[in-house]
Amino acid sequence: MNKLSVKGGKKLKGAVKVHGAKNAVLPILAATILTDGEVVLENVPLLSDVAVFCQIMCSLGVQIKQEGSTLTVCANGLDIQANPDSSLSQRLRASNLFLGPLMARAGRARLAFPGGCAIGSRPMDYHIKALEAMGASVELTDGCIDAVCSGLYGAEIYFDFPSVGATENALLAAVLARGDTVIKNAAREPEVADLAGFLKVCGADIRGAGTDTIYISGVKALHGGSYQVMPDRIEAGTLLCAAAITGGEILLCGYDGQSLAALLHKLHDCGCLLGQTAEGLSLTAPERLKAVDIRTQPYPGFPTDMQPQMMALLSVAEGATLITESIFENRFRHAGELARMGADIKVVGEVARIIGKPHLTGAGVEAADLRAGAALVLAALAAEGESQISGVEYIDRGYQSLEQSLSALGADIRRIKL
Ligand code: EPZ
Repeated sequence: MNKLSVKGGKKLKGAVKVHGAKNAVLPILAATILTDGEVVLENVPLLSDVAVFCQIMCSLGVQIKQEGSTLTVCANGLDIQANPDSSLSQRLRASNLFLGPLMARAGRARLAFPGGCAIGSRPMDYHIKALEAMGASVELTDGCIDAVCSGLYGAEIYFDFPSVGATENALLAAVLARGDTVIKNAAREPEVADLAGFLKVCGADIRGAGTDTIYISGVKALHGGSYQVMPDRIEAGTLLCAAAITGGEILLCGYDGQSLAALLHKLHDCGCLLGQTAEGLSLTAPERLKAVDIRTQPYPGFPTDMQPQMMALLSVAEGATLITESIFENRFRHAGELARMGADIKVVGEVARIIGKPHLTGAGVEAADLRAGAALVLAALAAEGESQISGVEYIDRGYQSLEQSLSALGADIRRIKL
């Protein structure tokens, strides 16, 4: 169990590079199970979630070789009788992405129900409905999802809510299915489009990914190929917020902010100056941020994965604000920890009211989940005095050496190995 120690009050200044996207590389890794041949993935972030995902794939007979941020994957040796190791798959929600590929490739899957986590119950009904529409029969027994089919066929799938994971699972199941599939009210997140981009490199026939309606014509087989994973827009947004909360300035080298438009509009309304050039995306913060209201929405609305970070910012902004979390039912657990640093936050149901304070004070705080941990780091960067943040293992799930990126920008942050 490690801790991060942060001495606040330093304005962050400088240029930093964004790593590959966790929420794009996980579905793309699952998609490699569908391919015959060698796949080379570049710009893969070195994260504990990626490491666990690769461990599960190796337990299924997939060969994976890592050289820095490049993975070479070969799924020809997939053991169609094997099941994802339940002690591993329960550690991350994204293990549900094995369902579609295993149904398409092996005609069966037995997967431990990926547990709800700190931010909500995270059911699987949309995933199951999509697979059943394509011919699978699915049972929930002893905390496992048991799915079987005698081949998948194309179907029209409508999602009551544009679920990212369910859209990805449906896409993964449809690319080798017999016939055509239409996914309606699909998630429009850029990571879905990146998954489709990879699948098309391998020979899949997909149109409309990134919109709310995706058309897939099943093909006989997918070959290997090379693909560069998109940059992580949530890491990018978190680094922008680190400069914003400390009154600093930052350049995200080579980064195009298009997939972060909702966040950038809010940072602009807070008084930040933003610039997009060939060099990358820059932000210059005002002396003090102005309060703005936030409501999380499916893409292209304000991303729920940036809600905790914005709560940290608004805790020291001038004015009062409301944050409405409309995606997950329990994603305000960072509010209590921010309050320990002096933030004035009141949570009622899905709404948090924040009254900005001139400054926070360092404290001992604990991360309850990945983005909550990032929010606490941001608050500590702005706070007076030293903070100690435990639960760093959550931060390591989604950020590659966050403290190195922040130190390079002038933050006084170090990891304490306990
Ligand atoms: C993905 O999770 C991301 N994870 C999450 O990022 C992100 O917060 C979320 O999308 C929303 O953008 C990965 O991509 C690995 P959903 P996912 O299905 O797919 C409900 C992070 O910090 N729902 O879009 O699990 C669900 O309970 C993580 O990087 C059902 O009711 O999210 C939630 O309220 C956190 N039934 C809402 O939909 C279902 O079958 C959105 O969930 C599926 C989902």
